[in-house]
Amino acid sequence: MTHTEYLENVALLNKQAYHYYVLDDPITTDEEYDRLYHAVMDYETAHPDAIAADSPTQRVGDVPLEGFEKARHLSRMWSLEDLFDAEGLQKWLERVAKLSEKVTFYCEPKFDGASLNLIYDGGRLVQAITRGDGVIGEEVTQNVKTIRSVPLSIPYEGRIEIRGEVVIFKEEFEQINRERTEAGESLFANPRNAAAGSLRQLDARITAKRNLVFMPYGIGENSLDIPLLSTRMEWIYGLGFRQPPLHRVCEGFEAIEAIYEEMKTQRDDFAMMLDGMVIKVDQIEAQEEMGYTVKFPRWASAYKFPAVEKLTTLKEIVLQVGRSGVVTPVAVVEPTPIEGVVVERATLHNFDEIERKDIRIGDRVIILRSGDVIPKIIKVIAAERDGSEKVMERPTRCPVCGGELLDEGALIKCQNLECDARVVNSIIYFASKPCLNIDGLGDKIVEALYRAGYVKSVIDLFGLTMEQFLALEGFKEKKSRNLLDAIEQAKGCDCWRFINALGIEHIGEVASKALCSAFGLGFMEAQKETVIALDGFGEEMAESLVEFVRVNRDAVGALMEVLRPVAPEAKAEAAENPFKGKTVVLTGSMSESRGAIKTMLESLGAKVAGSVSKKTDYVVYGEEAGSKYDKAVELGVATLTENEMREML
Ligand code: IVH
Repeated sequence: MTHTEYLENVALLNKQAYHYYVLDDPITTDEEYDRLYHAVMDYETAHPDAIAADSPTQRVGDVPLEGFEKARHLSRMWSLEDLFDAEGLQKWLERVAKLSEKVTFYCEPKFDGASLNLIYDGGRLVQAITRGDGVIGEEVTQNVKTIRSVPLSIPYEGRIEIRGEVVIFKEEFEQINRERTEAGESLFANPRNAAAGSLRQLDARITAKRNLVFMPYGIGENSLDIPLLSTRMEWIYGLGFRQPPLHRVCEGFEAIEAIYEEMKTQRDDFAMMLDGMVIKVDQIEAQEEMGYTVKFPRWASAYKFPAVEKLTTLKEIVLQVGRSGVVTPVAVVEPTPIEGVVVERATLHNFDEIERKDIRIGDRVIILRSGDVIPKIIKVIAAERDGSEKVMERPTRCPVCGGELLDEGALIKCQNLECDARVVNSIIYFASKPCLNIDGLGDKIVEALYRAGYVKSVIDLFGLTMEQFLALEGFKEKKSRNLLDAIEQAKGCDCWRFINALGIEHIGEVASKALCSAFGLGFMEAQKETVIALDGFGEEMAESLVEFVRVNRDAVGALMEVLRPVAPEAKAEAAENPFKGKTVVLTGSMSESRGAIKTMLESLGAKVAGSVSKKTDYVVYGEEAGSKYDKAVELGVATLTENEMREML
């Protein structure tokens, strides 16, 4: 084989694989493919310096990794807001309509797998990163190269992020579990877990055997000039990626409902698991204008499919006391398999709910499980009662400390700040992954440290000694040393982890990150108004933060002294200008795309919002400005033409 013939053969193999793995439409036999593959491999063995980067032999690396490196996405990977019914859809559409006039929607399946970001540059796949926290994930390039529906090269030179979901087809999943049963290995609960687990194998040869499939659903960083998402997706499919089984552009509630019904009826016939339908605004410019909340794009949502229901028996109701003192009833049910997971517990939400549904111990009940959500009891079969069922009384005393409970109706709370359950749970939370991430310090160990009297509040963790650990049951020198090291390592943590670990009501991981980038370590001095002005924050969150700081200032200060959290480097400040720190809304058509003007204003330190409110400083309007302009006039917000805006600069 000459080198030219070799390259032709590589191209032919890639074409055959594309037809097989992407189009589901083979153009050759397995035998013929294997013959050519081996001929190509023989050439490569003889000419190791001349191997083409996109040769199919380059997909499987043979050196297992030691571990995964962390890698940063070029632009953030978002999640989606869930909608559960027609009413939810209606409300979402109303919100969309307020933010942007006249948009159409791109509907496609919501694939149930693991999300993945592919970075291509110069036409080559350069990096594949798992979603992680949306900003940083794990680099799994070696493994992803084994996925045949991920092209190693694409006919596009620019730098681009292509996002999608890695799935395992239902049949393949059954097959893997059959093999695992025979080998006496533990089974995967569902195709999603199987996909995620296979993607995170240190040995790419194992991933290669799992027949993973990549379904593209979007684009991250790019410099494309294609104004519609639907056309962008067609362009992606044209690069050599798979198309989803059903995808369509439509307008309005009725049309979306119709596609949803169609997808729901067809879902069992699809090769992969779907857990809903994703609805996205098709106009990229409108997407940019609408922007994001702290968690989700405002221009997309996931319309979930109804969950699976099963009949079982309620055996017992146990009470749990959380870190905020709320007493939650939890149902213990006869173990019931649903979609491959054995359900033993279900949430009952609260006591009002138990009364409203008249749930009694011993009842036959219907439980519902949908995706990742904790199963819940939705209905009692009262007709099957025989009189032996028992009503659960509302508790008046804390099941843990015996203290008095405050019954607020929906919530019943333990008032005792020193209640063991409250203290232990807040320490567990403090050490958990999205907080200080102290490796190895889980529920059991925290409980043991607390029982021994070594840790009475979070700050005591940092005064623990080797002797104390050695005095606990089951602790030897090595385990104790590891834990002491892990605790020491928490010092100098990111500032957002510190804020999140405080467990302030309504302030979760995303809000903590936002507070940290806005105020750094100065978050304790933030005024309520400045907090409300942050994207995604509301009155309740701001109040909760300010009140928490007021009550706990000394304790937080002491903790900060010990932990010395680190704030990110302050962002380069924009020079003084009339738009710095101002909230601006853009409307109508202008001399450039609104996206471009938005970017310019943001670089000047302005915040560009999607809708007009009393918080808006300026509405900048172009031709054919619509309701946003009217709203500005109505609220007395300053309005500027595009030219006036430019003159001010
Ligand atoms: S779009 C900015 N489209 O669902 C929009 N996500 O709940 C971000 N997913 O993390 C996501 N199918 O892993 C999108 N057709 C689809 C999807 C999809 C599955 C996953 C994805 C994402 C999660 C969000």
